[in-house]
Amino acid sequence: MNIDEGLKLVELDDSGVNTAFRADVLAGLSQEPKAIPARWLYDDAGSQLFEDITQLPEYYPTRAETEILKGQGASFAEMIGEGRAVVEFGSGSSVKTPLLLAAIKPAAYVPLDISGDFLRAAAADLAQKFPGLPVHPVEADFMRRVELPEEIASLPKLGFFPGSTIGNMVARTAVDLLRNMRETLGVGAKLLIGMDLIKDEDVLVAAYDDAAGVTAEFNRNLLRRINRELGGDIPVEKLAHEARWNDQNARIEMHLVASEAIEFSVAGKTFSLDVGESIHTENSHKFNRRTSNMLLLAGGWDPTARWLDSEGRFSLLLAEARPNRSAP
Ligand code: TRP
Repeated sequence: MNIDEGLKLVELDDSGVNTAFRADVLAGLSQEPKAIPARWLYDDAGSQLFEDITQLPEYYPTRAETEILKGQGASFAEMIGEGRAVVEFGSGSSVKTPLLLAAIKPAAYVPLDISGDFLRAAAADLAQKFPGLPVHPVEADFMRRVELPEEIASLPKLGFFPGSTIGNMVARTAVDLLRNMRETLGVGAKLLIGMDLIKDEDVLVAAYDDAAGVTAEFNRNLLRRINRELGGDIPVEKLAHEARWNDQNARIEMHLVASEAIEFSVAGKTFSLDVGESIHTENSHKFNRRTSNMLLLAGGWDPTARWLDSEGRFSLLLAEARPNRSAP
């Protein structure tokens, strides 16, 4: 049931079809249980809907993480130290990144993103907010090892990976990413990473199935995208959004569940779902202190500090890439 969330650059065939999207959708619908990699949720409409999700009353993670970044500036400054090059994996959100940069007196800011448009917008925004700060945007797939700009070669590094995006990956993919981050940033680097916490199932489910139905729209937008871009005829109204807590894997899963038996075609291939059968579209893993520490350690990062919001809903962890040494 593993979903491969690795990012790839966009490749279009002669008829303008995104070949990676088509391959992922056809493969995902051909397997049992059916699943489509979550990265395809984020076309323009999906990205806008996701912005709306972060404003919902039920969706606490963005507010909780922002509260930590606002309230713990002095503690970050003390633990992280001045003069680091901040390397952000995914280009800067307009709110969170300035809070970190204002707290720690960095020597440079390096946003990494696969989308050049997002990247340039974020870089320009940050350069304007922090006039003296050198900004070096890098267009790259951060799931792989990245070559950092020459200008920051001699600076100590701080990786920044907010939003509990690490939780959208299965453990194997998350560990691959953490190890690549260690390769990218080097020994001596630190990493500040957001991880959402295990809590009451009702609170978790509501965060991914809001009363206004915005998350449901976000999920079903994937079906509309498939119909539009891959010539599909999926009956969107017969697939219902569901947020499910998977206790074994400590994660919220988003599914699209068939309300009756359906048959449809995508890119010339026919598929069917029985009533109650689902297409799995997203995972959001939740952590506690031990599991977050274990994940970091498995990726080559030693946890050194941890901050929670005032209601104990979300964690920001600081970790360090220590030199390899022999251990028992
Ligand atoms: N990483 C965040 C989370 O898991 C953001 C996110 C990704 C999200 N996909 C989502 C939020 C789908 C709501 C719905 O919460």
